[in-house]
Amino acid sequence: MMKTKVSIKTGQALNQKTACLVLPVYAGKPRFATFAALDEKLSGQLGKFYRQREFSGRREEMLLVHAGPGLACERLLLVGMGARKPLTAAGGRNLASQVADYLTQHHIHGGLIDSSELMTPRRDGALVVQALAEGLLLAGYRFDQYLTKDANEKPFLPAVGLLIPSTLGKKNAEKAVATAEALVAGICRARDLVNQPGNQKSPAYLAETAQQIAADQGLSCSILGRDQLEKEGFGALLAVAGGSERQPCLITLEYRGGGQEEAPIVLVGKGVVFDAGGISLKPAEKMDEMKMDMAGGAVVLGTIQAVAALKLPVNLLAVVPAVENLPSGSAYRPGDIVTSLAGKTIEVLNTDAEGRLILADALTWVQRYNPRVVIDVATLTGACIIALGHHAAAVLGNHEGLIRALLKAGEGCGERLWQLPLWEEYRAQIKGDFADIKNTGGRPAGAITAAAFLQHFAEKYTWAHLDIAGTAWAEKSSPGAPKGGTGFGVRLLFEYLRAQC
Ligand code: BES
Ligand code: MN
Ligand code: ZN
Repeated sequence: MMKTKVSIKTGQALNQKTACLVLPVYAGKPRFATFAALDEKLSGQLGKFYRQREFSGRREEMLLVHAGPGLACERLLLVGMGARKPLTAAGGRNLASQVADYLTQHHIHGGLIDSSELMTPRRDGALVVQALAEGLLLAGYRFDQYLTKDANEKPFLPAVGLLIPSTLGKKNAEKAVATAEALVAGICRARDLVNQPGNQKSPAYLAETAQQIAADQGLSCSILGRDQLEKEGFGALLAVAGGSERQPCLITLEYRGGGQEEAPIVLVGKGVVFDAGGISLKPAEKMDEMKMDMAGGAVVLGTIQAVAALKLPVNLLAVVPAVENLPSGSAYRPGDIVTSLAGKTIEVLNTDAEGRLILADALTWVQRYNPRVVIDVATLTGACIIALGHHAAAVLGNHEGLIRALLKAGEGCGERLWQLPLWEEYRAQIKGDFADIKNTGGRPAGAITAAAFLQHFAEKYTWAHLDIAGTAWAEKSSPGAPKGGTGFGVRLLFEYLRAQC
């Protein structure tokens, strides 16, 4: 991916030499000084646009004006913001992505966004800058490695400036841009992994990617292959892997940015590189999308990459159980009873409820790190999509404080979570008849009973589970997020971790 260069500028908007000065404006004729001065230089043109209602500042409205003599900029772009209200992180990203798209579509090769109208006394200006920079950078994301026409033909925005009020401080703002760059690189890493097709994406491919991240960021990486998993007793994970010729593995990346003695935070991500359902085969329609069933794994890899790139002072592990779930003569069957790494026996009622099986063993395995907190991320249930649709991920867990911290991080960065209850009563649905537990609890509350299953294997530590089934994949493109993998969760976990430091 080509990267837009984002730079920070200070000073008067009027004096800025740029191909396009971008001015976000709220609904109604603007009253701030820059606007009045620009209007004067343009012989009252701007006022006229408002009077004749050719432009009024409604959301997503854009107006491009050529500047002419007397102004340092070549063009002026007014961008409508709608009714005045505090800018959210998602709002800032969206605005910046829209501006980037507009400029590229109009073959304008650079611009300067005046952020002063977006700053409010109660909002941290650095967060506004970070959101704008993220939006600019994400607008350049494409997954085009399999398009045989020259990808360079597609328009691309080489550079954009952000004009900030001097009170924010250039250093501060530049730090926010660097944060955005590392975070976006992590998000794009996750998107690329999710978008990669199943024929290219074996468990070994995920492992190689993890090794690449480790080499780039100076992390330690370990991979357990099939023989080691057998020796250790990963019975549930190996049962799922049985149907595929591709070897399963358990990937562990370790970053140590915190104190020597400090217990780590562990992120566990579901890494089913393709989920056909196994013998309980899925219907053909949309089965192609099940290449995204490793999105949780992609998210934890993207997160640790961003955290390491920015050297956050925290000890962090990313663990990815990686398998493929296919039907075949060697596949596990409905009715099979398997013994998990924890020793609990599991009755497999449906081979398509495979995520919880591989996560069960991974959650057991990470006990060995005496973690401070464990968070698992998984495209776990279709039921989660029924419950929340595509606008929020579900959060459940065994510790209200952790859940609250995650909800707060999500609200702050715009990757929203919604808590579902994990009451004792739900456990009855997955109590086994012929083994300790069974891997499905029937249709009622499917997202919750899946979490209740995981809870059996997360008893020894503070734990939360994020079901990202509805948010990992976008069916339609939107500004800064083309159809395909979204990387949802990288930003959320990054902001959660940053708040812990
Ligand atoms: N990977 C799927 C869940 C999923 C569905 C993710 C759609 C994203 C989009 C998971 O492995 C699965 O198949 N779950 C089953 C569980 C059921 C058999 C208890 C489901 O949700 O249907
Ligand atoms: Mn499945
Ligand atoms: Zn799955």
